[in-house]
Amino acid sequence: MVKICCIGAGYVGGPTMAVIALKCPSIQVVVVDISVSRITAWNSEQLPIYEPGLEDIVKQSRGKNLFFSTDVEKNVAEADIIFVSVNTPTKTQGLGAGRAADLTYWESAARMIADVSTSNKIVVEKSTVPVKTAEAIEKILSFNSKGINYQILSNPEFLAEGTAIQDLFNPDRVLIGGRETPDGQKAIQTLKGVYAHWVPEDRIITTNLWSAELSKLAANAFLAQRISSVNAMSALCEATGADVSQVSHAVGKDTRIGSKFLNASVGFGGSCFQKDILNLVYICECNGLPEVANYWKQVIKVNDYQKKRFVNRVVSSMFNTVSGKKIAILGFAFKKDTGDTRETPAIDVCKELLRDRARLSIYDPQVTVDQIQRDLSMDKFDWDHPVHLQPMSPGTVKKVSIVWDVYEAARDAHAICILTEWDEFKTLDYQRIFDNMQKPAFVFDGRNIVNVKKLREIGFIVYSIGKPLDPWIKDMPAVA
Ligand code: NAD
Ligand code: UDX
Repeated sequence: MVKICCIGAGYVGGPTMAVIALKCPSIQVVVVDISVSRITAWNSEQLPIYEPGLEDIVKQSRGKNLFFSTDVEKNVAEADIIFVSVNTPTKTQGLGAGRAADLTYWESAARMIADVSTSNKIVVEKSTVPVKTAEAIEKILSFNSKGINYQILSNPEFLAEGTAIQDLFNPDRVLIGGRETPDGQKAIQTLKGVYAHWVPEDRIITTNLWSAELSKLAANAFLAQRISSVNAMSALCEATGADVSQVSHAVGKDTRIGSKFLNASVGFGGSCFQKDILNLVYICECNGLPEVANYWKQVIKVNDYQKKRFVNRVVSSMFNTVSGKKIAILGFAFKKDTGDTRETPAIDVCKELLRDRARLSIYDPQVTVDQIQRDLSMDKFDWDHPVHLQPMSPGTVKKVSIVWDVYEAARDAHAICILTEWDEFKTLDYQRIFDNMQKPAFVFDGRNIVNVKKLREIGFIVYSIGKPLDPWIKDMPAVA
């Protein structure tokens, strides 16, 4: 029986290995992590992450050919194929702080593999890493090899949170990069054989190591660039009376452009886009390509601008002050169908509103109270100017209440801000919400999910990103 060990039981390691175990009953899969609480949760009824369809899949294989363990060294030593799926966040200190990827976790995993291995291994980069990381890993492993043959493969993961299971079941492509040597090609074929259990062969792409590593950064940069492009257009739509949904539809009908990923929003979030673009920017700078670096940096600058622009709209529309006013925040996760709040635009929007002395009542169906409190009280690392901003004072965070009922959140509020596109926000009883709010009652839709016309008929003053402005809002342009 082939044995796979995955180091890192997070949003990627957990779902990816659960699907491999389900699709390959003849392979034993062990997911290991240094976090005892995470592994305990994977072995319990309450999985550590919320992902539609995941629980069912885990239950089908757990205890048969899928295991979760904190015994990292034993399982690494016994494995034939080791996936490394540890976190690779942006560095917060030292050389490249605010841009470069922090490979501390990666390197410690690689050194541990070198320490405990007694048989040949295929080591698979599953984490998103800077191009050329495989070379560093090869060095660490070969200098400590004790005669063991290591083959390094790059197999970046393209799943998106909220749709991880369907993305893994039916991927657009699986990418495997390896050395162009006979041993490298053999390792590629071995990994290809795992995916071939359920992925059609023509969707498994093989490349050299550096192309695979760079393709992952490039794909995320291209995706984020589309969102910043449509968000930049949304500002122009508001200034001219065009409707960003109509513009996106018309533009996306061009088959060369395509219709996906053109939804204007309060800004993109998630653990990947910003981190990976910053990483790309850093790599460009290190390679003497400042113009290319600046091009990609702009994608993040527009994203920051979009979040700021949203808050400015809220404050300026509400007579230039939100001080003491209750504002209901609907949605805190960075997108629907996940409880993940990493880099969610809600953090920036809420912090700005709190700085303007608003009182917030936050509702999200999947994010815990603890998580929201942690997110709002933590320092924010400023990517462009590597300094730590002042953390929120405990008094400010006290102006936040977190509730489990959306109608409760909106009761007596002056305004509602929709920050995550949860489906349930489309079908709320907005008449009931309106009746229990302060007047004038405002809705600021950062995801373009409400029916603007209907809400205006009820009596709301509505702002929806990139849509023709309500006359009330038009009279009060956003301030810088
Ligand atoms: P995560 O933080 O959810 O999980 C990483 C896990 O690795 C943590 O549980 C941590 O405890 C564990 N870990 C760290 N060092 C370890 C060590 N030395 N030994 C054992 N365990 C260790 O991160 P994630 O979201 O799963 O992302 C992992 C990687 O995949 C990142 O490089 C990320 O960029 C990439 N990625 C993420 C997504 C996504 O949607 N989240 C998608 C594609 C790629
Ligand atoms: C992303 C990539 O899509 C995935 O391929 C990669 O493996 C990891 O990073 P993820 O961050 O999980 O996945 O979610 P994604 O669906 O890409 O959304 C990212 C952010 O962009 C979210 O905040 C989402 O709301 C926002 N978004 C997405 C928009 O604002 N508009 C869109 O049209 C699409």
